[in-house]
Amino acid sequence: MRAIARSPEASLPHAALTGVTKCFASASAGTELHALGPIDLELRRGEVFSVVGPSGCGKSTLLELLAGLAPCSEGRIEFEGQPVEGRVPDGIGVVFQEDASFAWLTVRNNIAFGLRHIGLDRQEIEARTQQALAFTGLSGFADAYPAQLSGGMRQRVCIARTLVLQPRLILLDEPFGALDEQTRLLMGDEVLRLWRETGATILLITHSLDEAAMLSNRVGVMSARPGRFIDVIETGWPRDRDSRIAALPAFGTITARLWDRLREESIKAMRQAEPGALQAPLDTPSQHQATTNQRAGF
Ligand SMILES: Nc1ncnc2c1ncn2[C@@H]1O[C@H](COP(=O)(O)OP(=O)(O)OP(=O)(O)O)[C@@H](O)[C@H]1O
Ligand SMILES: [Mg+2]
Repeated sequence: MRAIARSPEASLPHAALTGVTKCFASASAGTELHALGPIDLELRRGEVFSVVGPSGCGKSTLLELLAGLAPCSEGRIEFEGQPVEGRVPDGIGVVFQEDASFAWLTVRNNIAFGLRHIGLDRQEIEARTQQALAFTGLSGFADAYPAQLSGGMRQRVCIARTLVLQPRLILLDEPFGALDEQTRLLMGDEVLRLWRETGATILLITHSLDEAAMLSNRVGVMSARPGRFIDVIETGWPRDRDSRIAALPAFGTITARLWDRLREESIKAMRQAEPGALQAPLDTPSQHQATTNQRAGF
């Protein structure tokens, strides 16, 4: 029998975080805010890994560290076997939580900005820009300025601006937060299509348990601050999937498990922010659990 040759990279994690923590100087003099960690996480090459966790648990901080935009307090981060430190490594593309479109450039020029920066020829820039405009449904607004668009459309400009660079690891921080539910589902399908075509690895931060369950190979659930992974759920979906898997019983089982793990942490996070908040007992069955169970046919 012939041995199958595998490149050494194929067996390496695409990105790895080992013992990563982040502390910030706190507003009160001399104290520190322990925002994140310790985190150990290996992203597999070509997977979609979603992160869900309570507000303020450190999700955006995790993304900034992995993108090389801020240093870890402790631990080590590697992308494609190289340490990540001090700058966004080649091959990583980031879509931020807030609208980061350039107000002074048209949609077309926003999308082409990074391509010009890396010195591609005009034809290639034009082709990739047209493709990204079509992908994000913005072809009719190519010559508009961000101020003339809705919040959801501006977010799509930011998504397009990152995707044209064809990153091998795409970090998405709540990219669909400003979109309406229908556009969210369709963009989710488009991201899956793009993922299948490019083979990129995707790290997606989302507040939507449905979105996490639908798009991911694995979903990591984070605790209240300091955020640590308290569960990682394998969805087991086939590579060729789309939003219609939301109708499967297994989908309801996954979202129910996600909420089960997340509910207590979300209450803790609210109490961290406001000590008197949510005094109800932690074991009351939630509305979300009831709906997901119903959908799962329990
Ligand atoms: N540059 C900073 N300086 C000081 N504290 C910070 C800084 N960035 C984040 N924090 C704090 O770190 C904690 C985690 O913030 P982060 O933005 O990572 O949370 P998050 O999980 O992304 O929240 P959300 O779901 O609301 O977007 C918060 O308490 C926040 O106040
Ligand atoms: Mg955030």
